[in-house]
Amino acid sequence: MAKGKAVFFCQSCGFESAKWMGQCPGCREWNTFVEEVVTPMSGGRKKTGIGKKEEPTLLSKVSSEDSVRMRTGIDEFDRVLGGGIVSGSMVLVGGDPGIGKSTLLLQMCLLLASENHKVLYISGEESLQQIKIRADRLGNFSGDLLMLCETDLEVIQEVIERIRPELVVIDSIQTMCKSDVSSAPGSVSQVRESTGVFMRIAKTLGVTVFIVGHVTKEGVVAGPRVLEHMVDTVLYFEGERHAAYRILRSVKNRFGSTNEIGVFEMGQTGLKEVLNPSQYLLDGRPKGASGSIVACLMEGTRPVMVEVQALVCRTNFNMARRTAAGMDYNRVNLLMAVIEKRLGMTLSNWDAYVNIAGGMKLNAPALDLAVVAAIISSYKDIPVDEKTVVFGEVGLSGEVRGVSMAAQCVQEAKKLGFSRCILPKVNLKGLDTKGIELVGIEDLQGLMRQLL
Ligand code: TYD
Ligand code: MG
Repeated sequence: MAKGKAVFFCQSCGFESAKWMGQCPGCREWNTFVEEVVTPMSGGRKKTGIGKKEEPTLLSKVSSEDSVRMRTGIDEFDRVLGGGIVSGSMVLVGGDPGIGKSTLLLQMCLLLASENHKVLYISGEESLQQIKIRADRLGNFSGDLLMLCETDLEVIQEVIERIRPELVVIDSIQTMCKSDVSSAPGSVSQVRESTGVFMRIAKTLGVTVFIVGHVTKEGVVAGPRVLEHMVDTVLYFEGERHAAYRILRSVKNRFGSTNEIGVFEMGQTGLKEVLNPSQYLLDGRPKGASGSIVACLMEGTRPVMVEVQALVCRTNFNMARRTAAGMDYNRVNLLMAVIEKRLGMTLSNWDAYVNIAGGMKLNAPALDLAVVAAIISSYKDIPVDEKTVVFGEVGLSGEVRGVSMAAQCVQEAKKLGFSRCILPKVNLKGLDTKGIELVGIEDLQGLMRQLL
């Protein structure tokens, strides 16, 4: 075997360097370089089988029949995947530890197995008994699921090639190790090599591969970002640990739309789909409280309603405190500056805490107007009618800009029994006003007139 060469990898972004550095030029993190030995691939191309046939093919001759989608039986999951699992694709599921990645994938495997699909679940983290206990919690399933507790890639590869399952789940990629890579499991080169192996398996054998990836404190999949480039679909599982519900979000999808979300609730018997997320997120909303506004925005192809809360109170310090939970902190600062300048409210010696109730993390510009309304409502201590929905983007000169797919948002508001909707004036065109009062506004002064 060719002699290995020592190189240094940044453990947070995968940046490669010939010598050690204090700060990574790629991601600007400090002290992340670790020495790893890489061995050049010997005859890799021949072994992989990719490109066996050297003749180019006419696109028109390629049939798209092959990529029929396999339904998981969990509608919310199918939706996030873009309508089901594309065979031969590779899906990365990332998320904090304990969020429910293993539970979701085991549930999916059990459902598929009971429909007579050949599914193999490979765990490098739990023993067979532990998985059995979990499976028992999830309910009774007919059908047989194949299990393997293994971390050695050569063994796994051999098993997959021998039994040819339709779908394989790898839980998790950080535990997998390839014996000819000298660094520890979970390191950049191990993760990258293992992903490469699974990708070849997926593309040459047509096996669908689901990979579980742990997430670091900063919220990216541990190991390299390269992982995200290699796979077809990247899903993130997020949510507050103590809240019951979980959100599965697609951030990259070669076979469907991104930013699609699926909402689940973690219960005694595993994850259950939440069919009406808006209703679910608005449950427990305070009545007649100032600083509470309902916003509507698009998440993928579906409108979602959330409650935006703001608490504005006089500061006891020299510098006012501002916090933002569930949305971008800098955006809150910017919106407060716009309010201060355009509406003449002095907010500089007022603390402001902005929160998206329920632990959702959102960054759609459509949220701006609701945040502004919540801040004003709390500052003036005037509650806003609880049957009002607010959405729109706010520009630096205090103008209210249009958002995309306003019709769906209005429809959703109507469905949930809201009676008034404050939205950008440009969005009013062509909207159905039946059953709901639509108020189009052009700037923040217009919003003030509506709120006070
Ligand atoms: P798990 O799927 O092991 O998380 P991950 O693989 O992402 O690390 O999720 C485990 C958590 O979910 C654990 O805190 C227990 C909880 N849980 C339930 O509340 N109900 C259930 O039916 C199951 C199986 C787990
Ligand atoms: Mg797990």
